[in-house]
Amino acid sequence: MQTGVSTATAQRIGVPREVFLGEKRVATVPDVVAKLIKLGFTVSVETGAGVLANFDDASYTAVGAEVLPDAAALWARADIVFKVRAPTLDEVALMRAGTTLISFIWPAQNPELMQALAARGVTVLAIDALPRTLSRAQKMDALTSMAGVSGYRAVVEAANAFGRFFNGQITAAGKVPPAKVFIAGAGVAGLAAIGTAASLGAIVRANDTRAEVADQVVSLGGEFVKVNYEEEGSGGGGYAKVMSEGFQQAQREMYAQQAREVDIIITTALIPGKPAPKLITADMVKSMKPGSVIVDMAGEQGGNCELTEPGLSVVKHGVTIVGFTDLASRLSTQSSTLYSNNLFRLSEELCKTKDGVINVNMEDDAIRGLTVIKDGGITWPAPALKPAAAPAVKPSAAAVVAKPKGGHGHSSAPASAKSTAIIFGFGALLFWLIGANAPKEFLGHFTVFVLGCFVGYMVVWNVKPALHTPLMSVTNAISSIIVIGALVQISPVAAAVNRPNDWITWLASAGIVLTAINMFGGFAVTQRMLAMFRK
Ligand code: NAI
Repeated sequence: MQTGVSTATAQRIGVPREVFLGEKRVATVPDVVAKLIKLGFTVSVETGAGVLANFDDASYTAVGAEVLPDAAALWARADIVFKVRAPTLDEVALMRAGTTLISFIWPAQNPELMQALAARGVTVLAIDALPRTLSRAQKMDALTSMAGVSGYRAVVEAANAFGRFFNGQITAAGKVPPAKVFIAGAGVAGLAAIGTAASLGAIVRANDTRAEVADQVVSLGGEFVKVNYEEEGSGGGGYAKVMSEGFQQAQREMYAQQAREVDIIITTALIPGKPAPKLITADMVKSMKPGSVIVDMAGEQGGNCELTEPGLSVVKHGVTIVGFTDLASRLSTQSSTLYSNNLFRLSEELCKTKDGVINVNMEDDAIRGLTVIKDGGITWPAPALKPAAAPAVKPSAAAVVAKPKGGHGHSSAPASAKSTAIIFGFGALLFWLIGANAPKEFLGHFTVFVLGCFVGYMVVWNVKPALHTPLMSVTNAISSIIVIGALVQISPVAAAVNRPNDWITWLASAGIVLTAINMFGGFAVTQRMLAMFRK
C-alpha cells in the first residue's frame, strides 16, 4: 500500500521481534497498541517480540493485536513496520515495496543498508534523524528518551561494580564516607546520571565544555567543575564543538586531578559525527584508587577512556571499566515503553486524519527530517531547517525596505513614512469624530478598551513564544476577576438594598465555586509550567 494515499482500508502496523544479539527492547508495548488501534490502525506482533521486555503474547492479544508465528509472516503483512534496531540485510530482504519502516537507522554510518532499503522501494523514517531543535518534535525524540534511560542505567552498573555504598553512613560498625562520582559530559545521559547518583547520596561533580549546562548540573544536585581555560564550547543546536589544544591540555590536567580523587567516573562526552573525545588516559586509570569504577557510555564511538573495551566490562589496574553499548536494552521494560510512546506520538503526526492511513508529508519539517528514504529514493540528508519564526520577523521587515517600487532600497523609506503618516492622520480623524459625537458614558468605556488593546498587545508581543502557554493560563486565571459580580450578588450589603431571589443567590454561589477553580487552578498550572523553564 502506498503511503500518502488515502484509502478506506486501515493500514497494518507490524512489530517484529528484534534480531540483534542481546537486544531486549520491543518497538511497541501493549498499552501503545491499544492507542494505535484507536488511531485507526490494525496491529500485528511477531510471537515473542515483547518477551524480553516482560510483555508476553497474551498481553498483546488482550488489547486487540494479532500475533503472527514468524518474521516472514509479519514483514509480508505489515504496511508499516515499527522496529528498534536498524534492520539486518536478511530483514530487508523480507520487505515489500511500498512498506514504511520506522526505526533507528543511523544513515551516515550505514550507507550499505541505505542502498539495500532504497532498492526495495520502501519509505524509511530514521528516528535518529529527527530534527531535535524543533520544540514540537520533543515528544518524538527517542534519542533523548533512550539516553535518559541509559544515563540512569550507567549509575546502576557503576553501583553494581562498586564495592561500597553511595551515601555516607555512620553505623555501629563504623563510618562510611559517601562515594565521589565524576560525570564527564552533561548532555541528556550525563544529566540523568547526575540526578540518579545524587539521589543515591553520592557527592557528584560534572564537567562539560558547554558552560551553559552548569546551572542544570547544580539543579540536579551536582557540582560543576570548570576547566581553568576560557573558551566557548557550544557548537550550536545544543551540541559541543571540538576544543582547542590549549583547552584540551587544561582539561586533561583537571580530569587527572578528579581521577585521583573520585571513586566512580561516568563518561558521556560526545560531539555528533566525531569520534568520542579521549578524556580518560591510561595513566589516569592507573592513578585511581583500587576498586574504582569507570562507566564509559561512548563505547560505540570508540570510548572516552583509552582502556575501554566496547561491549565488555573489564578490570584494568584494579579499576572496573564498563563499556556496555546496550544500556537502554538492559532496562528493557522502561526503554520499550518510552520508545513506543515516542513512536505513538510520531504516528499521531503521520495520521492526523485518525483513519489508520499515514501521510508522509515532506512539507512538515519534523517528518521531512526523519524521512531518509521516500518510495525508494534516498532523501537523506534533509536540508537544514529554516531559522525559527521569531528571527524571521526581522528579515521580513528588512525585505519591505529592500523591495521598493522604483528598484532602489533608499526610495522606499519616504514612501513608507508617507503611508504611516496617512494611517495616523486617518486614525486621529476617526478618534476626533468619536470624541465629538459619542455619548459621555461610551467614551469612558472606549478609552479603557483602547488602552486595554494597547497594553495587551505590548505584553503578548514582548513575551517569548515558548512562554505563551503559561501566559495564556495566567490570563485565564486573572479573568476570574468576574467573580466580583457573583460576590456582589450574594453580599449582605446587596441583600439589604435589594433582596435577590433565591435562585440568583444559588446561581451566584455556583459561579463563585466554578470561578474559584478556574482562578486557583490557573495559577497552579502556570506555576508548574514556569517551573519547567526554571531548570
Ligand atoms: P549529548 O549530545 O546530549 O551529550 C553529550 C555531552 O558531551 C554534551 O553536553 C557535550 O557538550 C559534551 N561534550 C562533548 N565534548 C566534550 C568534552 N571534550 N569534554 C566534556 N564534555 C564534552 O549526548 P547523549 O545523548 O547524552 O549521549 C551521550 C553518550 O552516550 C553518547 O556517546 C551516546 O552515543 C552514548 N549512549 C550510550 C548508550 C549505551 O548503551 N552505552 C546508550 C545511549 C547513549
